[in-house]
Amino acid sequence: MDKTYFGDVHGVTVQKGGVGKSTFSQAIAYSYANQGLKTALVDLDPQATLTGAFFGYTYGAFTQNEENGVVEYDVSNITNIFRKKEVSPITITTTKYLDNPNRGKMLQPHYLEESMEIDFFPSNYQLLAVTESDDFKREEKINIFVEFINSLKSKYDKIIIDAPPSFGIITTAILKCSKSILIPIPTKNVDTDGMVGFFRTLDKIYISEDLSNLRKIVLIPNMFDKRVSDSKETLAEIKRIPTLLHETKNLRDLSCKVMDSFPQKSCVQEAPSLKYFLVPYIMDFQRSQNQDLILKIDNIASELSTIK
Ligand SMILES: Nc1ncnc2c1ncn2[C@@H]1O[C@H](COP(=O)(O)OP(=O)(O)O)[C@@H](O)[C@H]1O
Ligand SMILES: [Mg+2]
Repeated sequence: MDKTYFGDVHGVTVQKGGVGKSTFSQAIAYSYANQGLKTALVDLDPQATLTGAFFGYTYGAFTQNEENGVVEYDVSNITNIFRKKEVSPITITTTKYLDNPNRGKMLQPHYLEESMEIDFFPSNYQLLAVTESDDFKREEKINIFVEFINSLKSKYDKIIIDAPPSFGIITTAILKCSKSILIPIPTKNVDTDGMVGFFRTLDKIYISEDLSNLRKIVLIPNMFDKRVSDSKETLAEIKRIPTLLHETKNLRDLSCKVMDSFPQKSCVQEAPSLKYFLVPYIMDFQRSQNQDLILKIDNIASELSTIK
């Protein structure tokens, strides 16, 4: 008999850029794969930051045959979904971390050992053009994305989707498929109005777009710096969001959890520049420093999966 998979979809969504969506998409996908779950990491942001980090920005683009002018699309080109063609993932091999049985004062609590694989679906800039083109109606486009995401459910335990920084067709499709979503919110220069706007839109489209699959929202106060007094104030505001949701018409029954804050750390920026997932980067380059971040990432992954 074929193996059956959980097929859980978790989107990392919010209409703002630069908040940590791509960062947490890769970190969470790593965490699930590390637990032995078959994991797909899907870049659905036409800006392709995540794809750029791992493969360079041109990945998955088309090439034009110089002789006959025919445009040939890469098998991993995400825009193939608009041509009823399959999209093949690129398998990334990375290292698994294990708890160190001999952990002590001088030893790292974890060590890297076996290798493991994560299937990555790259994005590219053409996604913006096809998503905005007039060839399909809005509902058709949303359906094309929904069908693509749903087609992954029978092949993976966990499907982690990195969303674009806007509330359009792609984000709507991700929300329709997701069981729970992760929202990073920076604790410095927080845009509270933007945040409230996101939930207001979510509440507004909940019925019309049928978001009934969505059960949980997990918020991460990100880039926390305790030396900045602003950080503490915005943290307090983020903690009020679950109460605000409870006062909405359609989101009141969703569970909403605010995680412990995630600190501002330079290793977060360094990892993708060296084509690393965050956790093995910390393990490889930082020795015993920042190991607490590994636990924080695993906690976020676990919270995202806990759905009553
Ligand atoms: N906790 C953090 N500490 C330090 N830098 C961070 C942290 N979270 C995100 N960043 C950095 O902020 C920038 C934006 O993050 P990214 O994940 O690309 O955001 P988004 O996908 O929402 O646009 C990146 O350079 C990333 O490395
Ligand atoms: Mg991003």
